[in-house]
This record gives sequence, C-alpha cells and structure tokens, in this order.
Amino acid sequence: MLTSKNAGLSTMEYAINITNLYKKYPHAEFNSVDGLNLQFPKGKISGLLGPNGAGKTTTISIMCGLVAADSGSVKVLGLDAQTDIHKILQKTGIVTQHVALYPLLSAWENLVYIGGLYNIPQKALHDKISFLLERFGLQNSAKKQVKHFSGGMKRRCNIIASLLHDPELLILDEPTAGVDIHSRAMILDFLSAYNEEGHTILYTSHLLDEAERLCTEVAIIDDGKQVVQGSIQDLKAQVAGVNTLEELFLHYTGRSLRE
Ligand SMILES: Nc1ncnc2c1ncn2[C@@H]1O[C@H](COP(=O)(O)OP(=O)(O)OP(=O)(O)O)[C@@H](O)[C@H]1O
Ligand SMILES: [Mg+2]
Repeated sequence: MLTSKNAGLSTMEYAINITNLYKKYPHAEFNSVDGLNLQFPKGKISGLLGPNGAGKTTTISIMCGLVAADSGSVKVLGLDAQTDIHKILQKTGIVTQHVALYPLLSAWENLVYIGGLYNIPQKALHDKISFLLERFGLQNSAKKQVKHFSGGMKRRCNIIASLLHDPELLILDEPTAGVDIHSRAMILDFLSAYNEEGHTILYTSHLLDEAERLCTEVAIIDDGKQVVQGSIQDLKAQVAGVNTLEELFLHYTGRSLRE
C-alpha cells in the first residue's frame, strides 16, 4: 500500500488506528475486511472511500462496537474498540448509513430520548437541541413526526442526534446519501465548521467530488483491503496525469463494476 504524510505521526496523534483487521461474516465466502491497516489523524477531516461492498460500513461498525472483528486491533482516541467501547461512545458521535430515528416520534422527542441516553442534564439538553435544530434548519419541524420528514430532513436530524454530547470525534457513514443539493450543502458546511472548531471527522462516501471538497486525508479500500492512504494532495502528486480524486480512485480501483 502507498502511504504519504501520516507516516511520521506517533500513535497518540491518531484519532483512529486500525491494525491487521479481519472480519468475515458467518456463512460469507470472503472476508469483508481483509487485513486493514489504516490510520486517521486527529484534528482533520478524513475520508474512508471505496466502491459498493468495499467494507466501509463493516469497518466503521467495528470501530463503534456494532460488529465484532475476527482479529486485529482498532484504537479509537487511544481506546480499544473491543474493551473500551462505552468510553469511546462517550467521546464519539456516530451517524449510521441508515437513518436511526423513531419514525412515529417527533424530531424533538427523538432527540430528547437520545440525549437522555447520554445523561445530559435536561436544561442543557433542551438548549442544545434547540441550537442544533436551528443550525440544521429544522426549527420549524421540531414537533413533526419523523415519518413525515423528507430524506434530507431525516439525514439532518440523524446528524443532530450524533452531536448532542458534543463528541470530539464524529464518524459518519454516507451522511449525504440521497439528499438534495441544499441539504448536502448544509451538511458539508456544518462538517467543515465543526472541524474548524477542533473536532476530528471520519466520513465514508463514494461521492468523490464531495470527498475531495471536504477531506484533506483519504483511505481508499476495495474488497476489504486498503488500496492507498494519505493526503489527497500527496496522493495525486504521486500518479502522473491524475488531477482529481476520481481519477486517482479509478487509477487504483479499476473500472469493473461491483455487486
Ligand atoms: N451482515 C452481513 N452479513 C454478511 N455479509 C455482509 C453483512 N454486511 C455486509 N456484508 C458483506 O460485506 C461486504 C462489505 O459490506 P459493507 O456494507 O461493509 O460495504 P460498504 O463499503 O459499506 O458498501 P456500500 O458502499 O454499499 O455501503 C459486502 O460484500 C457485503 O455484502
Ligand atoms: Mg456502507
């Protein structure tokens, strides 16, 4: 695998450090994660990129304790994902690929319930929810049942749910999938601002123009294996004739269709 500037960072400077990670689902023919070694630095926006079925969600699910690895190590903020998952979840916000909200509850009810799981005092929680609903343009829809939300509104509310405890690390699995251009712009602007406030972000996508706009660091994976990792700028400079992240991606992953 090619790497670039992360090579000089010490372990403490990594928000996420994945070593020799393997995962094969029961009855599956192949490993979904097949010997990954990935590092994502603190304080940056990093992209975990790959085609459909590359293993992005599986890798993130292992970081969040939703899926158990077969072998290897995942350290998140210096904590072991196998033994310290509760501490990790106190410091990390997770935005899942599929919206994880109760459709029959209103946005406000969903967020009060989720905030309650973090034991946030009621006044502080209500203030935070009001602030974030406003920040994501949902202040007039707070009392509406989530089942009546558009796709973009559900995605924005799903992101708010991950932010209530002010996590230092935010992990998002395809946060802009299926949203319109206005919701996408709002989400991306928010992620840039959140990073500028000092928070670390890891996000997955197969939208490469979006990833190129948002991230400074990327890891490209395919068939559960890492293909390339480093700063976008350095990686593009390493391949003659490559000007965009999309060209870089196709250079390394080829053009055959994935299932
Ligand atoms: N619960 C499961 N049981 C069996 N196989 C699974 C399971 N979840 C994922 N897989 C398989 O593992 C591989 C990696 O899937 P994963 O969802 O991690 O990929 P992904 O990169 O997130 O893809 P996408 O871009 O479509 O979201 C795929 O071949 C998928 O079919
Ligand atoms: Mg996925």
